[in-house]
Amino acid sequence: MSASALHLAHEDTTNPRDDVSQGSGVAMSHVAVLPGDGVGPEVMAQAVRVLDAFGIGYSEHAFGGNAILAQGTPLPEETLAACRAADAVLLAAVGLPELEGQPVRPEQGLLGLRKELGVYANLRPARAAGIDIMIVRELVGGLYFGEKGIREDGTWFDTCEYSRPEVERIARRGFEIAEARAGRLTSVDKVNVMHTSRLWRDVVTQMGSSQYPDVPLDHALVDSFAMTIVQAPETIDTVVTENTFGDILSDIAAAVTGGLGLAASASLGDDGPGLFEPVHGSAPQIAGRGIANPAAMLRSVALLLDHGLGRTADAAALERAVDTALESASTPDLGGTSTTSDVGDAVLRALDSARTL
Ligand code: NAD
Ligand code: IPM
Ligand code: MN
Repeated sequence: MSASALHLAHEDTTNPRDDVSQGSGVAMSHVAVLPGDGVGPEVMAQAVRVLDAFGIGYSEHAFGGNAILAQGTPLPEETLAACRAADAVLLAAVGLPELEGQPVRPEQGLLGLRKELGVYANLRPARAAGIDIMIVRELVGGLYFGEKGIREDGTWFDTCEYSRPEVERIARRGFEIAEARAGRLTSVDKVNVMHTSRLWRDVVTQMGSSQYPDVPLDHALVDSFAMTIVQAPETIDTVVTENTFGDILSDIAAAVTGGLGLAASASLGDDGPGLFEPVHGSAPQIAGRGIANPAAMLRSVALLLDHGLGRTADAAALERAVDTALESASTPDLGGTSTTSDVGDAVLRALDSARTL
């Protein structure tokens, strides 16, 4: 059956429990879709074509800057409720230049959603010829979520905080992912300076020797590790690291593997829906021009199919379709002249021909 012949899913939002792709009687998956701001809706338009092609039902919800402008809050109650009720959440990007640094910001909605869903493990793969890195970033703790404020003397502060269980659960994910990849784990910290890094290194070292003795483990300091990503990315396998370090290192890893237009992510908790989103932001400089690269968004859909819905074969098919599409269609960030929808067209064509083989 062709991808276009399967076009029906978004009418299904009224009746999200009929599943055509898995046969009648099987509960249908439902995805909460958050297009967000800037290039977000542009790349999400391509993602929902793919959801349609796979017969996955979805509903769209206000989130980020657009929600602030319309409702005064980046994460409306209705949106949060829809995300909690969904099998998975697909987010494009949030952020509006006019709201940067304001008391109420789109990014607060994203941090709130991550925290509410308890998605503490953020998987950020970075692949290119000879490079296969998996960054496992802690997502709901550390500097982002520690106490912050303004002291009486006028000093502004953010604090980096971690409890032992918070480090243990992300370290466990790191070891398990490294083990599943038959790879190695590099734990990245700043133990020469930061107090929390001493806890981090201690926990990872202890868990390595007591629970994962067969996973090769090493430790690196974040500053020189940033250089290693640039100079010797092929030597890196699985990385586990603190929230802020992971934010920065994952953009660097994206840069050495083709750029932010290609980099996808999956944020997972222990239960409940996962959150799937590109690593990139709302790219205001190119918003509205129809030239954003939708590959990172579509690869995030592949991660959603795999980790969110357990549709491993469909995930692999989509990954291959994106790779194939990029051979013939590339947006300006990759040096080409294709538009966002040209790449979407090419992905759907590649999916279609894989299905009819
Ligand atoms: P950005 O990721 O939006 O853009 C960085 C650079 O990458 C820009 O040159 C941009 O044009 C390019 N780029 C990003 N995505 C692209 C794509 N799909 N195709 C082609 N080029 C692409 O980062 P920024 O400029 O630092 O941030 C802009 C806004 O996005 C800010 O408000 C920030 O807070 C927000 N942001 C949101 C998320 C998110 O929602 N997950 C992530 C990062 C940044
Ligand atoms: C990311 C983004 C977010 C982060 C912002 C927008 C809150 O940069 O997902 O990498 O810092 O985590
Ligand atoms: Mn980031």
